[in-house]
Amino acid sequence: MRIKRKRWVGILLIGTFLGLTGCGSAAHPQKPPQQAPPPAPKVHYEQVAPIFAQRCMMCHGPNGIEAQAPLTSYEEVLRFVSPGDAESWLVLKTQPGGSMNERLTAQEAALIRQWVTDGALR
Ligand code: HEC
Repeated sequence: MRIKRKRWVGILLIGTFLGLTGCGSAAHPQKPPQQAPPPAPKVHYEQVAPIFAQRCMMCHGPNGIEAQAPLTSYEEVLRFVSPGDAESWLVLKTQPGGSMNERLTAQEAALIRQWVTDGALR
């Protein structure tokens, strides 16, 4: 009587175990694709335009020493930027003897870099 009961319990346990593992791997996968974190939003021109206005316009505005290279609109800035290629942009490079990026804080430079990397979106 006692032995029989133990055997049943064993079979029940194995059955439960198989059921749980089967269920866990197939019906409830651990990372369903729809629960993946959404990609970070891309940086747009409106986020970097205030930085250009604040840091660059004294020279690259209509009255600046670089008025022939104005940076007052998206179209004008895009004349100097290769979308996706932040590393080739003079402004983001550190050059001996100082460069334009030393007027930027680390966060501002990082945001502009990300904007160009994201494709210099409008
Ligand atoms: C103190 C004045 C001054 C400030 C501020 C300044 N620039 Fe310039 N910039 C210049 C001068 C002068 C040149 C041309 C000489 C050179 O290429 O270094 C130039 C050149 C450039 C060029 C290349 C233009 C070309 O003909 O290829 C770009 C792009 C540029 N600057 C962007 C910026 C950005 C973006 C900022 C703000 C983060 C900025 N500049 C801040 C003076 C300035």
